[in-house]
Amino acid sequence: MTTDNAVFDITESLKEDVLKGFSASNKYIPSKYFYDQIGDKIFQEIMGLPEYYLTRAEGDIFNNFKSNLRSLFGSDGGFNLVELGAGDGLKTSILIDDFIENKIEFKYYPIDISENSNISLKASMMEQFPELKIELITSDYFSGIEKIKKHYARNVVLFLGSNIGNFSVKEASSFLKELKSVLSPNDLVLIGFDLKKNPKVVLDAYNDKSGVTKRFNLNLLTRINHELGADFKLENFDHCPTYDHNTGEVKSFLKVVKTCQVYITSLEQSFSFTAGELIHTEISQKYDVSEIKALASKVGFELKDNFFDENNYFVNSLWINK
Ligand code: TRP
Repeated sequence: MTTDNAVFDITESLKEDVLKGFSASNKYIPSKYFYDQIGDKIFQEIMGLPEYYLTRAEGDIFNNFKSNLRSLFGSDGGFNLVELGAGDGLKTSILIDDFIENKIEFKYYPIDISENSNISLKASMMEQFPELKIELITSDYFSGIEKIKKHYARNVVLFLGSNIGNFSVKEASSFLKELKSVLSPNDLVLIGFDLKKNPKVVLDAYNDKSGVTKRFNLNLLTRINHELGADFKLENFDHCPTYDHNTGEVKSFLKVVKTCQVYITSLEQSFSFTAGELIHTEISQKYDVSEIKALASKVGFELKDNFFDENNYFVNSLWINK
């Protein structure tokens, strides 16, 4: 019955958010709704696209610097490897493999609000690493870290991929302040930041030639059709990303290409969409190194080291809690 309740809840919150987002003067759909079963699969495809360099760059960094990370993480003895939003854990398994091979003392705590994704992560980790000590934490990030604090070893918190980028700079700063407040002195955080670079390279990553990202963005409307009984015709909408190199913001929009009315059964209401109108669906914030340094000190961490891929497209920034 819990599963039924969970499905009911997410549909209920989708309903409320769609009503809010479509009633706003600039329409939007919150990005958390990308990741239904179909969205999860399309995101796997995105990560394999030639244009989507982020996942590969971070994988390269881990492969190149795993021994550095191993000695920095382990400099205080055994540690808790805490991962916020682990996803498929593919990149983290590069580190875990190295730690196990080098007989490092650690325990892995993936924290995620989705029980399903946590359970499949554990299954795949146990298959690869039967000796791995792993404890799933199904909760929001902060209460999850509170639970780990009781274990008294150093926490090494991983926040990888595009996770921090899905916050605006302001949101990122309040998130990290809150994270700091549950950590102890000497705890470490390793954060993945996508860097500002040639605008074409950035934009192409969100606008691939084969149209996978377009499918990902349009899947939001398919989801609303299925879960809320709407009658969106996908051909009236297009995927439209923008990149502002100065602010570092990639924004993804669904652009209305043909004026239309859409009826949403569960809201018992129609909404009008006017040709040219943009529905905001996602932000992907890009940084430069000086902005990362400034962010670390603003939120009360000390930047210990930066690890770059060979193109300087991406950085994993290691911060220590003072
Ligand atoms: N949010 C992720 C990122 O910034 C995933 C993503 C990739 C995405 N392409 C997208 C989200 C297009 C919305 C639209 O990299």
